[in-house]
Formats: sequence, structure tokens, C-alpha cells
Amino acid sequence: MPKAKITALGCYTPPRLLTNQDLEKMVDTNDQWIMERTGIHERHIADPEMATSDMAVEAAKCALAQNGVDASELNAILVCTVTPDHMFPSTVCLVQNRLGARGAWGFDLIAACSSFVYGLTVGAHLVTAGTHQKVLVIGADTMSRIIDYTDRATCILFGDGAGAMLLEPAAEGEDCGFIDFLGEVDGSGAPFLNMPAGGSRMPSSHETVDKRLHYVHQDGGQVFKYAVRKMYESCRDLLKRNGFTGEDVAVMIPHQANIRIINAAGDRLGIAPEKVVINIDRYGNTTAGTIPLATRDAILEGRLKKGDLVLFAAVGAGYTVGASLWRWAY
Ligand code: UT7
Repeated sequence: MPKAKITALGCYTPPRLLTNQDLEKMVDTNDQWIMERTGIHERHIADPEMATSDMAVEAAKCALAQNGVDASELNAILVCTVTPDHMFPSTVCLVQNRLGARGAWGFDLIAACSSFVYGLTVGAHLVTAGTHQKVLVIGADTMSRIIDYTDRATCILFGDGAGAMLLEPAAEGEDCGFIDFLGEVDGSGAPFLNMPAGGSRMPSSHETVDKRLHYVHQDGGQVFKYAVRKMYESCRDLLKRNGFTGEDVAVMIPHQANIRIINAAGDRLGIAPEKVVINIDRYGNTTAGTIPLATRDAILEGRLKKGDLVLFAAVGAGYTVGASLWRWAY
């Protein structure tokens, strides 16, 4: 069976910035509180005419251009998102059409902040099955569309962004690519982070809009405690069953929800701080976008090199948990 490797990466963030100083004018908050409690300084926000598929297409084009791959060569596209353009058709259909990816099938994957780690794993298995040569996994979220900018507990956290990774088979004997994945969902966490209205449980109505139920609602403390514990435990167990310790990890690329969650996980895993990628200060939490954006920054900063053991990790609404190990391929 061929191993799946990541061969290209592209990202997109909209140019407009929302800084902590901007938020100080919108809600009762301040830069010091936001920096100390979350590590976030600014986020990118999409202009009104831009939707999730638009950012996904930009990220996809960038990834394909890296190796001169034509969109018509793609066998499958996965769009990981909680902010699809519409409930249906799937965002992937809009992306496929805009890219001209005539040979691709695909689907949207909804697992909140763990979406991209899940998508990467599914994509890797399509390649490993031998049935797919080129799979594009996109993480894209326009969180600003579902955030209540009168709620200081959530509006400071999120930003918009997208990233895409291309998966292809590794050559025979090539020591790189996907190693292992550990996933978990725990639906008892559903009440603590969700968007109550707009689905079949509570269809949108004047009442749901008046009550602001079409926005993200979060019990931050509950999610925080769970995330700190599970990001550590999932990574610990994944490393252990593959015969590794934290010291073997060259680069940890965690979901960017809160700098304190990331530091706690890295610390408990015994991964040196300089090996843990943090860019939450510049992007906030872009949900499915965080891991490709952080990977891009690690490459640009020269921190991620061919042959490195890479650990991706995420915890999100659901609850969903995912961690995966890769040997970086380029
Ligand atoms: O990616 C999806 C998963 N999501 C997460 O992983 C997020 C997890 N949760 C968190 O990151 C943190 O819980 C938050 C950043 C959301 C909140 O930080 P916290 O340290 O847990 O603060 P808190 O909710 O316990 O609030 C502490 C105080 C409260 O005031 P009182 O009751 O002590 O008087 C809040 O009202 O801070 C207040 N507060 C704020 N103050 C200034 C809450 N939000 C703000 C704010 N500015 N934006």
C-alpha cells in the first residue's frame, strides 16, 4: 500500500484586520486581558462579499501552483468547515466548479476545530487505498459570519482564514508521509460550544434571530478544561503507541484556540517550546484554518524541514479530538 504524503500547501487570509484595539471600541474588553487570557493580538476578517468557498479557492490555487498541478488532475477534494456557504450544496461543489477540477468528487467535513486533522486523515486513507493519486484537503472558515460582536466572551477569539494541503502517494521506500491518527468524539460536550439555531433542531425564525441563537455560544471554562486535558492525552497516547516521546517530535502544530491550551499541552508532553508552532497572535482562532496556517508559518520561518516528525493536534466543539503524526516530505 502506498504511503500518503503532503506535497504542497497553500493559504489565504483576507487582508482586513480586526485588532484588540478595534474590539476595545466594540465591547467591554481590553488588549491586556485578551493577550494574557488568549494570546491573540489581531485577526483577519473577510469583506462582506467574500464567503468560505472564495477563501477555499484562493488557498487551493496556491497549493496547486506550488507543484504546477492542474486542478483537473485532482481525484478528490475535501472542504473542512463549520461555515459553509450554504447548508447545501456542499461548499466543495462550489470549490470544484471554480477550480475546474473536472475529475474530482468530494464532500464537506464538519468537525469544528478538529476538522482539518480529520480531513487530512481521511484524505491520507484515500491515497493509501491506492484509488486516489491526488487529494486536496482544504480547511476554511469565515467565523466572523457566525460570531456575535456584542458578546465579549466569544468575539475576541475568532478570525477568518483558509489553508489547503495536497496529498499524493509517496514513492516506494520513501520514508515520509502519514504515520498514524488518534481521534475521539465526546458528544456530552455538545452543550458547551455550539450554534443553537439554523439547523433541523431549531430552524431559523424571527425569534431565534432576536435571541441571537444563530451565533456561536460557548461556555469557555468548560471547553478550556477539556481542551487542556485532551490535547495532552491524545498526543501522549498517539506518540506512545508509535514508540515515540515528546522529545522525538521535531515540530508540534496545534490548533490555535488559546495560547494557554497550547503551552499546557506542549509542556506536559515534554516538547520544547521552540518546537511548538504558535501564530494565534496574528490570526486568532480560524477553526479549520488554524493548522494549515500554522504549518505555512513554520515553513516560512524555516522551522519545518524534510524528514521532520510532525505532530498535528486539535480539540474542538462536539467535543471532537484529533491528533496525527507525519514525517514531513519536502
Ligand atoms: O477552538 C474551539 C475550542 N475553544 C476553546 O478552546 C476555547 C476555550 N476557552 C478559552 O479559551 C477561555 O475559556 C476564554 C478565553 C474563552 C475565557 O478565558 P477564561 O480565563 O476562561 O475567562 P473566564 O471565562 O473565566 O472569565 C474571567 C473573567 C470574567 O469576569 P468575572 O466573572 O471574573 O468578573 C469574564 O466576564 O473575565 C471576564 N471576561 C472578559 N473580560 C475582558 C470574559 N471575556 C472578557 C473579555 N474582556 N473579552
